[in-house]
Amino acid sequence: MAVLCLPSFLFSITNLLLLLFTSSATSALDSIGPFQSISDGQTLVSKQGSFRLGFFSPGISKNRYLGIWYNNIPTRTVVWVANRCNPINDSSGLLTINSRGNLVLFGHNNNESEVWSTRSVKQAKNPLVQILDNGNLALRDEEDGGNPEAYLWQSFDYPCDTLLPEMKLGWDLRTGLKRSLSAWKNPDDPCPGDFTYGYELGQTYPEAYIRNHGAKFYRNGPWNGLRFSGVPELTVNRFFNFGFVYNEDDVYYTYKLINESVLSRIVLNQTTSTRERSVWVEAEQAWKQYSSLPRDYCDHYGLCGANGKCVISQNPVCECLDGFKPKSDEDWNNMEWSEGCERSVPLSCQERYKDGFVKFVGLKLPDTTHSWVNKTMNLKECRAKCLRNCSCMAYTNSDIRGEGSGCVLWFGDLVDIRGFPENGQDLYIRMPASELEKKRKAIVDSKVKTEAIIVAVIGVAFAMLFVGFAIARNRTVDLKASSDRIKIDDSRGRKEDLELPMFKQSTIAIATNNFSLENKIGEGGYGPVYRGLLQDGQEIAVKRLSPSSGQGVNEFKNEVILISKLNHRNLVRLLGCCIKGEDKMLVYEYMPNKSLDTFIFDEKQSKLLDWSQRFKIIHGIARGLVYLHQDSRLRIIHRDLKASNVLLDRDMNPKISDFGLARISGGDQIEGNTNRVVGTYGYMAPEYALDGKFSTKSDVFSFGTLMLEIISGMKSRGFHHPHLGVTLIGHAWRLMQEGRALELIDGDKSNYSKNVTQEVLRCVHVSLLCVQQQPGDRPSMSSVLLMLSSTDSDLPEPKPPGYFMETYCLAETDSFSSKHVSFSNNDITISIMDAR
Ligand SMILES: *[C@@H]1O[C@H](CO)[C@@H](O)[C@H](O)[C@H]1NC(C)=O
Ligand SMILES: *[C@@H]1O[C@H](CO)[C@@H](O)[C@H](O)[C@H]1NC(C)=O
Ligand SMILES: *[C@@H]1O[C@H](CO)[C@@H](O)[C@H](O)[C@H]1NC(C)=O
Ligand SMILES: *[C@@H]1O[C@H](CO)[C@@H](O)[C@H](O)[C@H]1NC(C)=O
Ligand SMILES: *[C@@H]1O[C@H](CO)[C@@H](O)[C@H](O)[C@H]1NC(C)=O
Ligand SMILES: *[C@@H]1O[C@H](CO)[C@@H](O)[C@H](O)[C@H]1NC(C)=O
Repeated sequence: MAVLCLPSFLFSITNLLLLLFTSSATSALDSIGPFQSISDGQTLVSKQGSFRLGFFSPGISKNRYLGIWYNNIPTRTVVWVANRCNPINDSSGLLTINSRGNLVLFGHNNNESEVWSTRSVKQAKNPLVQILDNGNLALRDEEDGGNPEAYLWQSFDYPCDTLLPEMKLGWDLRTGLKRSLSAWKNPDDPCPGDFTYGYELGQTYPEAYIRNHGAKFYRNGPWNGLRFSGVPELTVNRFFNFGFVYNEDDVYYTYKLINESVLSRIVLNQTTSTRERSVWVEAEQAWKQYSSLPRDYCDHYGLCGANGKCVISQNPVCECLDGFKPKSDEDWNNMEWSEGCERSVPLSCQERYKDGFVKFVGLKLPDTTHSWVNKTMNLKECRAKCLRNCSCMAYTNSDIRGEGSGCVLWFGDLVDIRGFPENGQDLYIRMPASELEKKRKAIVDSKVKTEAIIVAVIGVAFAMLFVGFAIARNRTVDLKASSDRIKIDDSRGRKEDLELPMFKQSTIAIATNNFSLENKIGEGGYGPVYRGLLQDGQEIAVKRLSPSSGQGVNEFKNEVILISKLNHRNLVRLLGCCIKGEDKMLVYEYMPNKSLDTFIFDEKQSKLLDWSQRFKIIHGIARGLVYLHQDSRLRIIHRDLKASNVLLDRDMNPKISDFGLARISGGDQIEGNTNRVVGTYGYMAPEYALDGKFSTKSDVFSFGTLMLEIISGMKSRGFHHPHLGVTLIGHAWRLMQEGRALELIDGDKSNYSKNVTQEVLRCVHVSLLCVQQQPGDRPSMSSVLLMLSSTDSDLPEPKPPGYFMETYCLAETDSFSSKHVSFSNNDITISIMDAR
């Protein structure tokens, strides 16, 4: 009994018994002919014993299926199933050849009940069924001499979830036979799920897609003569050969093992939503994954939308192709990329303003659904052909071997492009004349500059050197002007009026009633803030910077111009600035609802904020921070995020203020180590407060603290737990550990629905992740945003957070005292000058 139980997870008991019977007593058959049959329990084994055909039950199912599996390995690995969706519910299965020469499977104790059968067109004189050593089940005529071309039927033409070596994935265009993979529904049911992999008919430049629930999920990219455009790592290897056949008769991919005693297979896996290649490792007696697709975020089909490009090493991963801009800035900034990008300048497609092409390099070629190919045209003819048709957007060689040959054209939007650092391809994208001019200039400028340097290095003759220098100087000026312009012009190519309004000091003075005390609405770390009214009726807030910033006027102006380009609904809009000598002022839009702290920390006002509003505010702040951290041009670390720096507009939308001030007044690095710590006690990350190390992750810490304040209505600074002496953070952690996190909530929660309760708990959880001691343990703001938005994914468990006990904070204050500490009044922004 014990012997039977042991391997029962691999084979059902009956099967095992019968298998023992077949392999010891009768030795399995290697072929069957007319009037012969295989019943449940009997098997058919290939000549050299590589594969076995028989009946089996998958996983925990009791159903019986006819299938093929590897014969020489202990882990039963089924590579093909006949009656995938039509199981036999007892052991009465019978495989035989019927009078018409077809292979038939009967079941259910009934030789009339056909469960599955082949449908060969031709009838064999002497039909013979064989399982071959490559795993192919073939029905053939004994007279055919074993010629594969003459097979009447073969299982290789009807793949299930596995592509074995020598199988073909693709079309026989003469017969219309499509060989594609479909994953098992689950490990207990071989019936096709909704995860498929194959080539689609009608694409002149064919490529394979993985589809999930019918939607495109991943594509390999078209074959470029050497490999698939989207799989640059697929190169000649010592392990398998591969090839792609593409002509009038056939479109298919196939591979062959170099050493045939190695076992390898490609499987489509519904559970993991991947296409895996695995290898049997004899020493470990296990399948090991060799590769898996899609391999990363950028492989997800169309992630960056039309005319977008995914670069996995970038943060965020999506960008618009040069010459394109996001269709919706707002969506794009919120990492909602599916809308994609549109042209910055429309194409003209007229004779007078001729379009041209810009060469992009290092790409996975776009989806070829709307493409056209000619294998003999060269690149020049290809370009001309594309130019003649206004809807042709791009072209390139269809075959990159040697010098490159063939022509492929794309029509309409370019979809699912990604960048590859190595082995990416060239793509020539149509551009209007104005964009071309811009490119041309940039190239000329950089060329001249390089030439000048070469001349200088070689130093052939003094005169030449002189001439070279003169050119270089002139050009450098040009280049500088143009690169400045490009920088400010912004990467999305929008042309805007670049001038930031400069307000006259007198205008500001009038608007703020000469900086009167009644007009003063606050005092931040960087100076006092006044409310003002411009003559045109617009309300403004004026921030007067403390003179200590020590930055030159030009640098200040440049910074302000850059920061004024930041435009996000969750950032306070900078309207302009004013510089008069040492006096520097920033002019913002005025926020009628003041700052967040006036709501959450006020007994009366806080009652006006219900949970949904609080959640909206948390969400908005998170979005604003994602934008600050990830905007590729600036990457601003706020460094002083706190409730009083979050302003509320008329509709209670949160707007982060004082962003970029760290940049303006510090003038030091944007990421790294500073000896001038600017921040607010209670919000500062430990590594920043102690060592002056700051990064986007120190902002995440402040955000986590702020989130706890918004949830609880308690101040992080000045929080005193009556008994324990823990901080707000420590308090929150304790409550969560004890499953009492709901107690943290400000106000009446008796009428909270289950959904709201879940949302609150999730927010507490996320904030504790944000205030982890180690920066590496804190999520990025974009992950925070995802965590806040999705309700079904599991969150990692937080470790004990930074600033757990009050004593820890005190110890820290001690270490501050050795430095110069200045507290700027009740707002408790501190700056620490450290002369290390
Ligand atoms: C097995 O399937 C057959 C045909 O579908 C059905 O008639 C029979 O009742 C089933 N037997 C059991 C035990 O479920
Ligand atoms: C089916 O089974 C019945 C009874 O066992 C037998 O008489 C008949 O010949 C069988 N038919 C075939 C096609 O095998
Ligand atoms: C093929 O692989 C087997 C098993 O790994 C090994 O023993 C054999 O030497 C290999 N043959 C060749 C020609 O490399
Ligand atoms: C799919 O992946 C899961 C998890 O790695 C694995 O357990 C399972 O065996 C795989 N299925 C197939 C058909 O390879
Ligand atoms: C491909 O281009 C060549 C050369 O321009 C031409 O002769 C041929 O007819 C074209 N083939 C197709 C299918 O368009
Ligand atoms: C441009 O190409 C598209 C797509 O192949 C085609 O439908 C259209 O007729 C072509 N237009 C011209 C003017 O050739």
